[in-house]
Amino acid sequence: MSAPPKTVLEAAPEEAEAIRQAVRHPDIAGLGPGRRVASLADAEAVAEFFSDPAVSDPIYDLPRPFTPANVSDWIEAIAVQQARGEALLVLTYDAGGQLISYSKFSIWPDRSSGELGGAMRASRQNSGQGRGGMAGSLNWMFESLGVRLIGLPAALDNVRSAAIIEGVGFAPMGERDGVRPDGTVRRSRYWEMTREAWRARRDPGG
Ligand SMILES: CC(C)(COP(=O)(O)OP(=O)(O)OC[C@H]1O[C@@H](n2cnc3c(N)ncnc32)[C@H](O)[C@@H]1OP(=O)(O)O)[C@@H](O)C(=O)NCCC(=O)NCCS
Repeated sequence: MSAPPKTVLEAAPEEAEAIRQAVRHPDIAGLGPGRRVASLADAEAVAEFFSDPAVSDPIYDLPRPFTPANVSDWIEAIAVQQARGEALLVLTYDAGGQLISYSKFSIWPDRSSGELGGAMRASRQNSGQGRGGMAGSLNWMFESLGVRLIGLPAALDNVRSAAIIEGVGFAPMGERDGVRPDGTVRRSRYWEMTREAWRARRDPGG
């Protein structure tokens, strides 16, 4: 289960409602080509994608075991959250129709805050694509969904995620516990970044 950032922001009702609307009707094209919001039609492909431990092992909030039924329930639950403006599951398919990555956006509109989780197919990992993909998704959360704060957890031994997260400027904020769907706890390293800091770094001098 994703958890809101350690830092507590308060959104005005209009700001929170604008974020909810952006999540309900996302500008998916702004994330890049091949993206689509997950639907039940994707359940089998998602179950197959997660069945590779190189993809799913580092991620604590997935619907294990990865049966099509569990994955369908998970997709449906996120769709219900999307209707409230609080979550979004985006899949990327390549030109051949193979699922190559997923991104789960968890949003707390009343706190103008979000969290991002995701993974790429193993054959695409360690290729230097991770940083660009993640930076694009984070930028989209700040600019298209409109949140002012993002918090990111990663498993203590996830050196690639840590390198990317710190490489794009997130500030380390110690550790925190994440609760898996089965109730067990996963200890994470944890980082945060504000939209202001993101823009200052992205547009130096601007
Ligand atoms: C995490 C993930 C998206 C990263 O994408 P990637 O394309 O594999 O990663 P990259 O090749 O861009 O490498 C990421 C960074 O880790 C660094 N890195 C790689 N192996 C490393 C190691 N053993 N020690 C230290 N740094 C390492 C790379 O140098 C790179 O840093 P840079 O951006 O400063 O150059 C991808 O590996 C993935 O999907 N993993 C499985 C799921 C997962 O862990 N999701 C994230 C949960 S928080």
